[in-house]
Amino acid sequence: MRILFVASECFPYVKTGGLADVAASLPPALRALGADVRLLLPGYPGVLDRLRVMRTVRSLPALPGLPDGARARLLGSLGEDDLTVYALDAPAFFAREGNPYQRPDGRDWPDNHLRFAALCRTAALMGLEGDGDGWVPDIIHGHDWQAGLVPAYLRHAGWVFDGKPVPGTVFTIHNLAFQGLFPPDVLRPLGLPSDTFTHEELEYYGKVGFLKAGLVYSDRLTTVSPTYAHEIQGWEMGFGLDGVLRRRANVLSGILNGIDLRHWDPATDPFITQRYDSGQLDRRAANKADLQRAFGLEVRPDALLFGVVSRLTHQKGIDLIVQALPRIMGLGGQVAVLGTGSAELEQALADASADHKGRVGLRLAYDEGLSHRVQAGADVLMVPSRFEPCGLTQMYALRYGTLPLVTPVGGLADTVADVTEAALAHRTATGFVTDAVDLPALLRAVERAAGLYRHGELWRQVQRTAMGRDVGWEASAQAYLGLYTSLQVDSTSMSQ
Ligand code: ADP
Ligand code: GLC
Repeated sequence: MRILFVASECFPYVKTGGLADVAASLPPALRALGADVRLLLPGYPGVLDRLRVMRTVRSLPALPGLPDGARARLLGSLGEDDLTVYALDAPAFFAREGNPYQRPDGRDWPDNHLRFAALCRTAALMGLEGDGDGWVPDIIHGHDWQAGLVPAYLRHAGWVFDGKPVPGTVFTIHNLAFQGLFPPDVLRPLGLPSDTFTHEELEYYGKVGFLKAGLVYSDRLTTVSPTYAHEIQGWEMGFGLDGVLRRRANVLSGILNGIDLRHWDPATDPFITQRYDSGQLDRRAANKADLQRAFGLEVRPDALLFGVVSRLTHQKGIDLIVQALPRIMGLGGQVAVLGTGSAELEQALADASADHKGRVGLRLAYDEGLSHRVQAGADVLMVPSRFEPCGLTQMYALRYGTLPLVTPVGGLADTVADVTEAALAHRTATGFVTDAVDLPALLRAVERAAGLYRHGELWRQVQRTAMGRDVGWEASAQAYLGLYTSLQVDSTSMSQ
C-alpha cells in the first residue's frame, strides 16, 4: 500500500511542536508493518539543507499565487531512516528562515493561504499523476490545516480525471484550535469554485477554513487520542466545528500518538549526563544536579523538582503554573521551565524567576537537547493543559521516570494513570491527574505529589511502572494501517 503523508513540519528538518515528531516517527513505524509511506514537505531551508541526494522528480504546473517564471519543482530524496521525502521547492513561498508559519515579528506570513495551498495542490497532483517516477499513492494522509485543501483540490480543481483512480484521503487533526482561516476572496486565486463557500463546505463563520476543508471532504478523519475525538464533538472543545464533526462521527476515530523510542530512551540518550534504566533510578541524581545547574537552581538533591517543557500559551495552562508557584515554593519545591510563547506569559515567568532566585529557573528558548535534560532530571513534569489533543511531553516523561502531573483532558487523560490508593496497590499508577482544570485542582495534585515524594519507595514504584508503559508506535501504527485498508476495501467495492 502506497501512502503519501503531507505535513508542514517534520523533525529534525523543521519543528514547532508535536506534529513534527509525529511526522518523523509514524512513517517508519508504518513502514515496519509493510506500508510504503513517503512524506511531502514544503521546501523550507531547513528541509532542503538537510536532505541527502536530491533530484528533481517532476516540474510542477502553475501553482496558485506563484509569480510568473518563479521556480516550482518537486524534489525527491532519502531522508532520515531512508524514508523517501519529497520537498516542494518553490523559493518564492518557502525560502524563508525561522518559524515556518510566522514572520520574525511573530505575525503570520500574509501569503500563508498561497503557501499551503501550493503544498496541497502538489499533493493532489501527485495523487492523480504520481511523482514523475511512477510512484502514485493509494492514499494521501494530510495533517492539520496546512494540508486541509488536499481533498478539496482532488474534488474541485477541475482537472481532467481521465478515469484515473482518485486516491483515498485521510485527515488527522492535531489541534482544532489552529484552523487556517482566510477571507473569502482567497477562493478565486486558490482556484476553488465560489459555490464551495457554504456552511456545508468551506465556510467557517464568514471565512474560508482550510481545516474545515479537510474535515468535510476527507474519506476518513482521525485525531490523536480517543478522548479528544470525543471532546471535539462537544461545544466546549469543538471550536465551532463540533457540528461538522458530529455529522462525520461515523468516519472519525481517535488514535493515540506514540513516541520515537529511538530518540527518547534514557538508556541511550546522548543529551543527558547519566544514562539509566528502570533498574538504575539512583543514577537520575546526576541528571537532576545537571538540570539544577543549567537552570540556575540551588543544587539540592532532596528538593522536589517540577519541570515544564512547553509552548507558553493559554492552551498549556502556563498561567496556572505561574499562580501555583507560591504554593510550590511553600512546599520546598523547585521549578524549571523551558519554553517560548506569548510575551505576557514569558514576562510573568521571568518575574517569578527573579522573585524566587535559585528556586524558579527559566530558559526562554527552543532547545531540543535541553528538553531531554529536563525529562531526565526533573522529578515531576507538569502539563496542566486546558485542552490537549494528545501531548507528547507527558509520554516522554513516563519513559524517563519523571512523573507527569496533568489535567484530565484529551491524550493526557488517555496516557497517565492517577496515583490513587487502588492504583498504587495494583501497581498501575503512573502520575498525577488533577480532578478539574483550575488552580485549586492543580494545587491539590501538587500537594499529592509532594506527599508521595516523601515516601521514596512508593515514588520509585510509580517511576518503574511509568517507565514500563508502552508508549511506542506499534499499536497505533497498526490502527492506522487498519484504517487505510478499510478505505481500500471501500473503494474496491464502490468501483464494482
Ligand atoms: P504541542 O505540539 O501542542 O506543542 P506536544 O506535547 O505534542 O505539544 O509536543 C511538543 C513538542 O515540542 C515535544 O517534542 C516537546 O519536547 C517539544 N518542545 C516544546 N517546547 C520546547 C522547547 N522550548 N524546547 C525544546 N523542545 C520543546
Ligand atoms: C498538536 C497538539 C498536541 C499533539 C501534537 C501531535 O500540536 O497540541 O497535543 O500531541 O499535535 O499530534
